Amino acid sequence: MAGTGFSHQPVDVPKIDTRFRKIVTKLPVPESIPLLQRLYETESRAMHGQLPIIWDRAENFQVFDAWGNCWIDFSSTIFVTNAGHGNPRIVKALRAVLDKPLLHTYTFATTERIEFIDYLIKNTPKQFEKAFLLSAGTEATECAFKLMRMHGQKVGKRHGGILCFEGNWHGRTLGAQLMGWNPKQKEWIGFQDENIHHLPFPYPWRKDAMSDPVEYFRIGIEKLVADTGIDPKRDLSGVMFETFQGWGAVFYPKEFVQAVVEFAHANEMLVAFDEMQSGFGRTGELFGYMHYDVEPDLLCCGKGAASSLPLALVLGSQKVMDLPDIGSMSSTHSANPMVCAAGKANLQALIEDGLIDNARDLGVIFHARLQTMQKKFPNHLAYIQGKGLVAALLFNSPDGKPLASLCDHIAELLMCRGVIVVHTGRESIKLAPPLSISRDAMDEGLDVIEQTIADCIAEINS
Ligand SMILES: Cc1ncc(COP(=O)(O)O)c(C=O)c1O
Repeated sequence: MAGTGFSHQPVDVPKIDTRFRKIVTKLPVPESIPLLQRLYETESRAMHGQLPIIWDRAENFQVFDAWGNCWIDFSSTIFVTNAGHGNPRIVKALRAVLDKPLLHTYTFATTERIEFIDYLIKNTPKQFEKAFLLSAGTEATECAFKLMRMHGQKVGKRHGGILCFEGNWHGRTLGAQLMGWNPKQKEWIGFQDENIHHLPFPYPWRKDAMSDPVEYFRIGIEKLVADTGIDPKRDLSGVMFETFQGWGAVFYPKEFVQAVVEFAHANEMLVAFDEMQSGFGRTGELFGYMHYDVEPDLLCCGKGAASSLPLALVLGSQKVMDLPDIGSMSSTHSANPMVCAAGKANLQALIEDGLIDNARDLGVIFHARLQTMQKKFPNHLAYIQGKGLVAALLFNSPDGKPLASLCDHIAELLMCRGVIVVHTGRESIKLAPPLSISRDAMDEGLDVIEQTIADCIAEINS
């Protein structure tokens, strides 16, 4: 079927009826196929890489279709529903705005916006004095890009150079893609901004990066300076980190990040973190950068910022956030009252209902269990990455070749067994349940994941 790599041929699968999962039909559901077909015919195919499930309802850590099936969700709809699907606080806050009704105000002020921003600033580290509210994550990284360059101009830099990293990803608009790495995805642009520089990423499989991360950075930056002739003090305005590298939940060594931040601040550059996947409690801290013990100047957030509606935001100091003139940075739907109400309720749920604590505490058990799992499949499960309630399982063949098709197969079979995971299209399976998941549900999901990996590996070995 057009538009997706997963089979759309309904097949008989074993029926499942456990405490948290129910599979009662063929999969994909036969009645869903004509509906999916209609979507594929009328919507751009760029949207169609996901598992063939039509979601009807989702609550806490479970997803339901209209035909009686129910899955444990280990995707959080790709890092969005951190506070759980249909979190009651968020639903209540949205109902209150709906019932007024107050659906849109453009940039006219609302109490929802005043209260959300106030709560956000009070509950984030003190260097974040102001916020920009936006709708998409890619707008947030574009905004940080613009602020870093405007700040560079203000302090008299010759160029607005931005340091970025190999393998990182920041969104799908022009500036975000230029800062991102993926050369294929940015072929359409036709040029590379000569003031955006990519440094090598300290992957765990690079022995030199692991044995001396600071030296690894020093060699990278010295090579960049030698190759381009830039003078960091005059030509670099900022550095953009993806807090962990998305596809594989790969964190940098702490000393590496600290060396980059020290270098940046010594050269009057702003430090921005793209917290799209790592923010709002996912890693067991409010923001993922907190694991590195550094103080960024700008944070770009989205996804889990409202656990539901389209909310993205940038946080920074007053002096940086007030650089753009009135009207030169906002977008039509940014700061919408519905989104602001959801944003405040989400943050309250994460902080006041202990969901970040749950991510930290359950995260320890989650990762211990995954480490044990890795030992069972030493020839294929090459790395487990992540912290808190995010993990990536990286699969390589015994001779080190990436096994992307094995991951497709695992994701598909897990769907048939009542578990949804993040399918990356690469040699990784990502696990990111809502932070509200219970221990029992997490354990049930992990049991299924372990058995499914075992079955898929046995199949390729047979
Ligand atoms: C690390 C990172 N940055 C930026 C983005 C872009 O966010 P959005 O899709 O909301 O524009 C994403 C989305 O997947 C992301 O994972």
